[in-house]
Amino acid sequence: MSVKVTACAPSNIAFIKYWGARDLSRALPVNPSLSMTLRTSYARTTAAEIDGKSDVIELAAPDGTLTRAPDGFAARAGRHLEHLREWTGRRAALRIATINSFPSDAGLASSAAGFCALAFAASHALGHTPSAAELSRLARLSGSGSAARSAMGGFVLWPSTDDDESPAVAVAPPDHWPLENVIAVVDTEAKKVSSRDGHRRAATSPHFETRLANLPDRLARVQRAIQERDLATLGPLIEEEAIELHLIAMSSSPAIFYWTPATLAVLDRVRSLRETGLQAYATMDAGPNVHVLCEADDAERVAAALEAVPGTERVLRDGMGTGPVLVDRHLF
Ligand code: PMV
Repeated sequence: MSVKVTACAPSNIAFIKYWGARDLSRALPVNPSLSMTLRTSYARTTAAEIDGKSDVIELAAPDGTLTRAPDGFAARAGRHLEHLREWTGRRAALRIATINSFPSDAGLASSAAGFCALAFAASHALGHTPSAAELSRLARLSGSGSAARSAMGGFVLWPSTDDDESPAVAVAPPDHWPLENVIAVVDTEAKKVSSRDGHRRAATSPHFETRLANLPDRLARVQRAIQERDLATLGPLIEEEAIELHLIAMSSSPAIFYWTPATLAVLDRVRSLRETGLQAYATMDAGPNVHVLCEADDAERVAAALEAVPGTERVLRDGMGTGPVLVDRHLF
């Protein structure tokens, strides 16, 4: 009888962003990135070997219903499974079902959690247990670079060395600094331009080279602020970085606009919160939603303030998380 395995893998939010690739199909980045692993935004994926030649890829609904995954997603997952079969040396077809705990395709890094959970569950179902470093490399082979950072908890740097093929490494464990991440969801529609296209266009921005020249210093300062748990230093750096990602996107050819008026309204509210003395700082990925980082004691006030911004559809509470785990809550 085939083994059924279910993995939960966390999403992550980047403080220093991966934007622009040397090799997009293998997600080899032009710059190192650094993220915080999340606690409540995760993907849950069940994998089991099946008879036959073709993989079966399904999406689970919250009520447990399973439907065939759309062709594009199934094809991408199938290509990823080929890498996992190659790594494990076992050529078996797999049944896969997956669900996210958060809205997909809304700039909440659904691909990071999803492909990391797929790599973890499928390699176990194929009889192999990857180390965190191996999982990081396997997750990246999906083509989602941020998935490489979801293989471990805490604050995560990827790549870990000057070699862009090196896996991610945790630079501080989750209990080093349990920051909270309050997410203002202003739009849950699938984004119109994928991060894949964003990476492809990044180098067309006239500001891209300047960004790359400035990044090593910013990364070093972010790492120091994390080591010193210094939010007053970290916060402005991560805001500057997020705005720069969007500057590159908006000045790419063709231009990409991920922000909506509600994004700007949330950013404005975060600035007003700071004027009241509260330490809260925003970052955004390739989407309109805003992640606000703060200390645990301030999360309630931040959430209430974001809920009151016209255009906020809902507020998600998240925070520091640990790495992927296996669970018994199977999806089939
Ligand atoms: O992992 P990808 O290819 O979906 O790209 C991630 C891009 C950003 O989320 C915008 C930045 C990041 O480092 O997570």
